[in-house]
Amino acid sequence: MAGLLNQLLAHPLTRNRSVDDPGTTALRRSIIREKPFLLALYREWYQILLHHLPDHGAILEIGSGAGFLGEYSSRVITSEVFQTPGVSLIADCRQLPFATGALAAVTMTDVLHHIPDVTSFFSEAARCIKPGGIMAMIEPWKTPWSELVYRNLHSEPFEPMAGWDIPTTGPLSGANGALPWIIFQRDRARFESEFPQWQLQKIQPMMPLAYLVSGGVSLRSMAPAVSYGLVRAAEKLIGEARFAMFALIVLVRKP
Ligand SMILES: C[S@@+](CC[C@H](N)C(=O)[O-])C[C@H]1O[C@@H](n2cnc3c(N)ncnc32)[C@H](O)[C@@H]1O
Repeated sequence: MAGLLNQLLAHPLTRNRSVDDPGTTALRRSIIREKPFLLALYREWYQILLHHLPDHGAILEIGSGAGFLGEYSSRVITSEVFQTPGVSLIADCRQLPFATGALAAVTMTDVLHHIPDVTSFFSEAARCIKPGGIMAMIEPWKTPWSELVYRNLHSEPFEPMAGWDIPTTGPLSGANGALPWIIFQRDRARFESEFPQWQLQKIQPMMPLAYLVSGGVSLRSMAPAVSYGLVRAAEKLIGEARFAMFALIVLVRKP
């Protein structure tokens, strides 16, 4: 049933394409621009992230993919594991080409849950970010509502009982949408004990509906652009945190 629905709603530009093909990411870049509702959602994500990032110093965005955060600040270095439009650096976040303490911040949208061996990334980010610097991300989050949606309407695995490792099938197909919740909520004590360099400053669950009705990068939009404000207002009325599909997660690099 979910597979059939996904096939029916699949965006015609990328239907039946491999998500790991860099060409799919390039197409997704144009899909975001052509879907005003989704564009508005990304703009809001970027405003939220920039609000939490330091005012000075270099900001590395990892897994920039089809996004466009780099257009919002000249201090953002966009990066990806493969060549794709809008990306200025090819780099795997587990081994970054920066000197110790060279970055003020690392940021990302929808990336952490695709990183195999995420512990290497936390150590590498702690090395590159100067004390007092920030790591800020927007990632899928687990609530009873989001679990229902992610398990039934989304093509990525969502496994809240899993460990920290994810399949290494490819940079996008390898995923566990529940991983950010696993690390920062379920296994918070483990995270704090293994990574004393990081202080978990904020977890703000949000957006129960907006991404779903936008259709994201892989499905057709289910809402007209003008309804973005209405949908966001409705989300606040029903309780953003309780039914959240995403969370803003902010960490501070301790001295
Ligand atoms: C779901 S996409 C998100 C893309 C973009 N940030 C957005 O919000 O549209 C996840 C991205 O993470 C990238 N990624 C996966 N593993 C990575 C790694 N080890 N280092 C850096 N980026 C990685 C993938 O290549 C992919 O572009």
